[in-house]
Amino acid sequence: MLSEWLVARLAEPGLTGEAPAPDSRDDESIALWTLHELSFRGFEDADERAEWDPGLLGVRRDLEEALEERLRSRWSEAGRDSTPRAGGVPEALEELVAEDDGPSLADHVRRHADRDQVLELLRQRSVYHLKESDPSAFVVPRLPVRAKAALMALQFDEYGDGDPNRLHSHLFARGLEAVGLRPEYGAYVDDALTENLEMNNAGSLFGLHRRLRGAAMGHLAAFEMTSSLPSRKMVQGLDRLGLAGPMADYYDEHVEADAVHEHLAARDICGTLAEDEPDQAEDILFGAFTCLDVEARFATVMLDTWGVAG
Ligand SMILES: [Fe+2]
Ligand SMILES: [Fe+2]
Repeated sequence: MLSEWLVARLAEPGLTGEAPAPDSRDDESIALWTLHELSFRGFEDADERAEWDPGLLGVRRDLEEALEERLRSRWSEAGRDSTPRAGGVPEALEELVAEDDGPSLADHVRRHADRDQVLELLRQRSVYHLKESDPSAFVVPRLPVRAKAALMALQFDEYGDGDPNRLHSHLFARGLEAVGLRPEYGAYVDDALTENLEMNNAGSLFGLHRRLRGAAMGHLAAFEMTSSLPSRKMVQGLDRLGLAGPMADYYDEHVEADAVHEHLAARDICGTLAEDEPDQAEDILFGAFTCLDVEARFATVMLDTWGVAG
């Protein structure tokens, strides 16, 4: 297994030898998640130089190429890969979001989910929410002036407006603790569904490559544009199950914040980026489509395992 080989390789920096091919999509996703993580918080038992180890970078590149190819082929299969006029990017984003017919996990949480299902969903979500906004932070230096200023305004909120207790990832950690789950970073990665890891890997792939800055910002926009209403439903579901408190506070924060972020991301970040760098317009939409697509696939699998029709 590639992921097992990788873990051994990270623990023993001297270890060399050819990386085995991944033996499943799950193996592939865990391996890429692990390699990306070297550029985020790293691992206690891994050599910090592993992030820029040429052998590991080669493995990462192969996995990233395979992932990007899969994501791009889903985008072209969807038949939406026509380049919008640069000035029409915010409207094109709104259209993509309006046409999204993926199942809603928040709807299920609001009305029917039981406590175990909600806790399972929170464990899955923790893989992203505990590093919320970190992939987008890599994009800041790669943007032209207007998009950069707008992204910083959005990120400033995500990172708590200067107050560590308001940091969104920290609000989520406190929420996990309050509902009896583990708040440490990466605590539930081993339980993460392949679709969830792939969703996270797509975000990190876009964030870590300058070439993919348009996709990263489109991904961010779709994320923000589909957050406010579902967050309200999450609050209602948590309330219904007696899980209100800090976890509901996390989602409550997003009801208001993301109603603002939605416009910042679509108009001030993606809109101005496409005006200043028209060749980014298509990738912005590709990134937005991918965000909706990976969430739809994740939601479908979750609802399937619970025997709920989406
Ligand atoms: Fe947030
Ligand atoms: Fe946000």
